[in-house]
Amino acid sequence: MRDDERDALKESGYCEDGNNPVTCLLCKKREGQEGESTQQEKKVGQAKGLLESIGGTIDVAVRPFKQFDKKRHERFFIQKGELNGRAVVFKVGETASADRLRDESRNMKLLETAQSGLERPLDIYIVRQVGEAFADDAMTGLATEYLKDDPSLKAELSADQKIQVIGRVIDNVQKLPVSDEVLRTSGLDVHDAQKISSDGEYFSSVLEEQGFFNSELAEKLKEVFRSVQTDLQDEQPVFVHGDAHGDNIFLKRGENGNTEVSLLDIEGLRISNRYHDWSEILNKAVFLQHLERTQPDLYAPIEGNVKNMWLDSGVPFEEDAIIQQVTGGDESQARNFRVTRIYDMLTRIMAGRDSTHPLQKVRTELYRDLIKKELE
Ligand SMILES: Nc1ncnc2c1ncn2[C@@H]1O[C@H](COP(=O)(O)OP(=O)(O)O)[C@@H](O)[C@H]1O
Ligand SMILES: [Mg+2]
Repeated sequence: MRDDERDALKESGYCEDGNNPVTCLLCKKREGQEGESTQQEKKVGQAKGLLESIGGTIDVAVRPFKQFDKKRHERFFIQKGELNGRAVVFKVGETASADRLRDESRNMKLLETAQSGLERPLDIYIVRQVGEAFADDAMTGLATEYLKDDPSLKAELSADQKIQVIGRVIDNVQKLPVSDEVLRTSGLDVHDAQKISSDGEYFSSVLEEQGFFNSELAEKLKEVFRSVQTDLQDEQPVFVHGDAHGDNIFLKRGENGNTEVSLLDIEGLRISNRYHDWSEILNKAVFLQHLERTQPDLYAPIEGNVKNMWLDSGVPFEEDAIIQQVTGGDESQARNFRVTRIYDMLTRIMAGRDSTHPLQKVRTELYRDLIKKELE
């Protein structure tokens, strides 16, 4: 539309789309978008204000990794910068997300301390925090060392190599000692035999009451969780990253041609058994690959992310091979693995059972079918 046409429309009391501006949906949409983008700018401004107040500077040549983009469900401002002469990445969130940042800060420190007790250093690098977490009235933030990734190296990896890298990360995290003190005082969630068994039984009852599982299936499930408790008691507690996919793993070529691996995004750290990290990966992959196959419209907007995570159909995880590798073929360990995997699915179903989000609904139904098959 030409400017003079637009002016003429406005003067006649119509909006630029030729509608009554009070009822025009296009106008409302524009206003909504403007509202969102000014809100976003305001939050980014507050985050930058906080960084400035602690003497941090932002590297303006690098695009922010996240910047409170509502459409992408971004709850943080994540940007490269400098603090006390060091290259860092700042992660800043509103006060409502402060707990998540404080947890992440605590978790990085726990892993740093756990590494200091090792005789031989790990064969991966785990991101460390720089300085202390910081906050003002509106925002909370932390800084981590800036790590380099090599996208071209990642692009060369075969599916098997991606699975191996994930395995290397999980194995290394499990080499870290979980001391009695960490178990007692760290504040991390501890999924021990008792918790998995009683949560599993409880989730099965709730989901039965809500009509999600029929009583026959619910009974079987409850029995599985009751009877597994003794076996699970033999498992050592280990650290679980909870999100050990390709997007949280950085790669670099080392000096002698080897691949150096770094792990970041330590927010979801927990203590559980050594099947839990693999269970999460397998469950996420099976869901996202199901989505890719059966719901292309839902998959399309997240395709890029899923590929970066190495959880798309180009990376076919073979459950049996992974169970064999992790358990060495031991029957009772394999059973513990499968129950942990069901437990992880149940926690996802519980968290999303009232959600009307289409992705969540697809996941919930898929997991129900998988659990059913597993118990047949
Ligand atoms: N220390 C770091 N060094 C380099 N890049 C980082 C660092 N921390 C975060 N990033 C970049 O920001 C992205 C999001 O950070 P992440 O900690 O994974 O947050 P989220 O919980 O939002 O996934 C990462 O995938 C990575 O690209
Ligand atoms: Mg991440």
